Amino acid sequence: RRREQETVWEINRLVAGYYARQLQDKSGAPARQYLEKRGVPLTVASKFELGFAPASGDALLDFLRRQGVSGEEAVRCGVAIRKETGAVVDRFRGRLIFPIHDARGRVAGFGGRALDDATEPKYLNSPQTPFFNKRELLYALYQARDTIREKGFAVIVEGYLDAITAHQFGFTNVVASLGTSLTREQARLLLRYTATALIAYDSDTAGTAATLRGLDLLQEAGFEVKVVRVPQGKDPDEFIRQAGKSAWEKLVTQALPLLEYKGIHLAREKGIETAAAKMAVLRELLPNLAWLKTAPEIEEGVRAVAQLTGLSWETVRGELDRFLEKGQ
Ligand code: CTP
Ligand code: MN
Ligand code: MN
Ligand code: MN
Ligand code: MN
Repeated sequence: RRREQETVWEINRLVAGYYARQLQDKSGAPARQYLEKRGVPLTVASKFELGFAPASGDALLDFLRRQGVSGEEAVRCGVAIRKETGAVVDRFRGRLIFPIHDARGRVAGFGGRALDDATEPKYLNSPQTPFFNKRELLYALYQARDTIREKGFAVIVEGYLDAITAHQFGFTNVVASLGTSLTREQARLLLRYTATALIAYDSDTAGTAATLRGLDLLQEAGFEVKVVRVPQGKDPDEFIRQAGKSAWEKLVTQALPLLEYKGIHLAREKGIETAAAKMAVLRELLPNLAWLKTAPEIEEGVRAVAQLTGLSWETVRGELDRFLEKGQ
């Protein structure tokens, strides 16, 4: 199994190199045009080892066979598929390729974006295999890890291009969760580099729901968590390119601590007009308050929740104490 994993890494390395060369090739013109349209310079593309998968059905397989890699092995790596007829064909065709590296820079798998907005699916990823688990990887962590340690915090975005654009504009402590479902494994992985995480998900319904889930999950994993509020309807890629570097910097500086973000969200959702509504909001915040460890943290948290709900400090503190007793 370990040998097999090594082989997968070796083959994926060959595959990434092949796709990267195709991006430079004459046939890669549509992908280069697409990158230009998205505002990604080739220098940035090469930092992320971006590539292009040709449209023909077996260009990668032909290349791999010349390197002594069988169709069977290509299937095992998830870069080829075996059809019902038994024929083996390339998985990625006519797509911009994003290699997904592990923290050590090994290529674990690939994402491929269609070059137009009509093709479904928009993104096609390597399939889940014993050698590729999207749930245990953070996109761009390999490129971000040093800065995350230096700056003392990481920013988590949803998508490939959100991370790449952030890096392009100098925010090199940004990683992507590859969709909206941040996992415990990803949290544990990130915790090796920092204990402070900012969520900056898309400002849409899916992004907001995922932010609320992500907050709790990151707090349980041991993070101090904040939320970067991306303006309505945008994702970080769009926002940074439209509003510019300093606007993004400002959003990050103004990130809301977990309790405040969640409190504002709950107050808007449930209202805080009546005593019952206030208590309902408080009850949902108690599990988050209960994670706070030090006396100053607890005091600050209690104060924030009291202010958000309009309840007294004593009421909040009292409910927290009761909650903690019940939990033990
Ligand atoms: N994603 C995926 N498969 C899909 C849709 C999304 O893997 N069919 C993942 C990708 O990692 C994608 C991220 O979820 O980057 C965020 O999805 P979305 O916001 O829909 O895409 P964007 O990253 O904004 O894509 P783009 O800007 O290229 O349109
Ligand atoms: Mn051929
Ligand atoms: Mn989205
Ligand atoms: Mn986008
Ligand atoms: Mn998006």
